[in-house]
Amino acid sequence: MKEILKPKGLHELFSVQGKNVLVTGSGGLGSTIALAFAKSGARVFVADCLENKLQEVQDAAEKGNLQICTLSMDVSDKASVEDCFKTLLEKAKSLDVVVHTAGMGKNEAATECEEADIRRVLDVNLVGTILVNQQAARIMKAQGYGKIVNLGSIAGFMAHTLRSMPYAASKAGVHQVTRSFAAEMAPYGVNVNCVAPTWINTPLIARKDEAYYENIRKSVPFQRMGEPEEILGAVFFLSTDASHFVTGQVLLVDGGWSVTKAFA
Ligand SMILES: NC(=O)c1ccc[n+]([C@@H]2O[C@H](COP(=O)([O-])OP(=O)(O)OC[C@H]3O[C@@H](n4cnc5c(N)ncnc54)[C@H](O)[C@@H]3O)[C@@H](O)[C@H]2O)c1
Repeated sequence: MKEILKPKGLHELFSVQGKNVLVTGSGGLGSTIALAFAKSGARVFVADCLENKLQEVQDAAEKGNLQICTLSMDVSDKASVEDCFKTLLEKAKSLDVVVHTAGMGKNEAATECEEADIRRVLDVNLVGTILVNQQAARIMKAQGYGKIVNLGSIAGFMAHTLRSMPYAASKAGVHQVTRSFAAEMAPYGVNVNCVAPTWINTPLIARKDEAYYENIRKSVPFQRMGEPEEILGAVFFLSTDASHFVTGQVLLVDGGWSVTKAFA
């Protein structure tokens, strides 16, 4: 049974000081999250399948006089995920938080997308989430403590844009994986939650056509896409004692996208 939280001040509730944190994915969101954790006193590990993405976050950390440790991991490959967690545990000895941001998109018409692309998106986004959650949950179950934060999407709730069917299916799956893991892990003191953003300014959604950005501005009540820093609050909430009694939730960070179709 999860222990009742002892009274704490707000600063302590949101603290990540001294926590061992794994961030999967070293892209726009993952690198921002990893650097913010490192700045806040956590011991941060970042895992990605691309060496250049790991180098980028390492360079950014060094520039900011921060320390992070990079690890190689292909989240769609069970052996690679197991190796990565093994190496991490050898170095860190325990694991307090996993923020799972590794993922990919693919834009193709629903009637035209190739089977290989469909399988790749589901392998990376959905199977990858399951494999990473499994490894993290095993360690955290043995510890009797831990926080897992997955990255879902508004795409997991509604058809947010055309030509993204496999991605949308994968993200709906991530939301449900979160709920299922949460239910099974709660008796062991492990919280599993998910942050579901709207369009956030990262390489994942970079397009050339202005019409695309105009459509985003029109459909988000705040009239713009989000910036990576704008999901940090939600991620920190779900990674700390501040969310001690919160599990299985998918927290939308969407600038109001999900609550209105209003027009003047
Ligand atoms: N940016 C957005 O608008 C947005 C919106 C909603 C949800 N999300 C979700 O947030 C997460 C992070 O998105 P982002 O914007 O940082 O994307 P990004 O493209 O900037 O970064 C994704 C990272 O994942 C890594 N990756 C891809 N496949 C991998 C694999 N098999 N193994 C390990 N690493 C792999 C990539 O190398 C890259 O560094 C994704 O799950 C994405 O679906 C993003």
